[in-house]
Amino acid sequence: MNASSIDLARTVMQRIDALAKISDDPHGLTRTFCSPAMRRANGFVASWMREAGMEVRTDAIGNLIGHYPAKSKIENRKSKILILGSHLDTVRNAGTFDGPLGVLVAIACVQQLHVRKIHAPFEIEVLGFADEEGVRYQRTYLGSRVLAGTFDLKDLKRLDPDGISMAKAIRAFGGNPSALRNAKLDPKRLLGYVEVHIEQGPVLEKKNLSVGVVSAITGQTRMRITFTGCAGHAGTTPMNLRRDALCAAAEFISTAESLARRRNEADSGLVATVGQIAALPGASNVIPGKVTLSLDIRHAKDSVRRQAVTTLKQRASEITRQRKLKLSAEVVHESRAVECDKRVSRLLAKAAMTHQRRVPILPSGAGHDAAAMAVITPVAMLFVRCKGGISHHPDESVSEKDVRVSISVMNNFIQLLAQNA
Ligand code: GLV
Ligand code: MN
Ligand code: MN
Repeated sequence: MNASSIDLARTVMQRIDALAKISDDPHGLTRTFCSPAMRRANGFVASWMREAGMEVRTDAIGNLIGHYPAKSKIENRKSKILILGSHLDTVRNAGTFDGPLGVLVAIACVQQLHVRKIHAPFEIEVLGFADEEGVRYQRTYLGSRVLAGTFDLKDLKRLDPDGISMAKAIRAFGGNPSALRNAKLDPKRLLGYVEVHIEQGPVLEKKNLSVGVVSAITGQTRMRITFTGCAGHAGTTPMNLRRDALCAAAEFISTAESLARRRNEADSGLVATVGQIAALPGASNVIPGKVTLSLDIRHAKDSVRRQAVTTLKQRASEITRQRKLKLSAEVVHESRAVECDKRVSRLLAKAAMTHQRRVPILPSGAGHDAAAMAVITPVAMLFVRCKGGISHHPDESVSEKDVRVSISVMNNFIQLLAQNA
């Protein structure tokens, strides 16, 4: 490992800290799609991209794109494009590495080329995707879907919790909703998409290894489920006459947990999470009349996930029937499991072999922009060890040493790809 990758690892850590301060919420890191915090974060990242010799643009949905020309471009020939990057939005009360790590490591790699006045035989574009987490509109991969040509234009009508439509938010941010349908990248121009990401799990730490290569990204279904009963007086309504929506929701949540646990006894990997719940009218002396909750279900095999969704919908119907309530169950997001490209992943593993004798190949339980990009180009991912496997939490942590390894692996990868391109 050379001196410049050591300095760049420190720079990446400093930039992670700088982005950690850019939040929509003063009490924790929350940076959502097209928000004022996202605008400020994009401003910082754009300046780092320029410093690394890139030309910067923002596309119609707010993705930040840094472009580093190929050798042939300088010689005025058209060349292919390698896309690197990750997302700049976060979950609520997030950790600081999920997303920005992949963008900043990519910028560091380009900076190293720029300092040495090196250009690859392909163009490099660094993407800071505008929305991967789906926090604001309950719809994930907004940025990468636009580039992959799979963005659903109906989503422009979705409303955020303040009643602002996605189209309005994009326009206020300076984007252009009507240009989204033509924003698909030309697959023929693309060499691939490679994303560096915090592992968000404990495997690399257990193996005492800095990095690993991802085999596949699990599929996921997200649902919005509403139980409607009848609000009433908490002191005067006898228990047998109640139609309590929160009790139905509680029964359902516990059913979802048991189903996933039971399934894990036979075949590990099914996860079911209720992460959001709203009970109305929301007073201690009123029986809850309406409860809306989110359900997130994932498994590496699409058939197992779909079966679990069907079973849970049936259980929700049974619960509502028994309790004389009404049910609405809507799928708000669905993505299939995606395999990473074998050839690009092999090259990435080879690049990592300079640092580790063993490079584990591991599946990702989290969703990533790579899953959306796989529709138009071969994708590969490098996972970086994190402390305690913690992610989607302020305690998320990656060491400077491992960031240094990831920069170096990505530099090796670019060199290997240049030899193979
Ligand atoms: C994204 O981080 C997800 O997997 O929910
Ligand atoms: Mn995340
Ligand atoms: Mn992420």
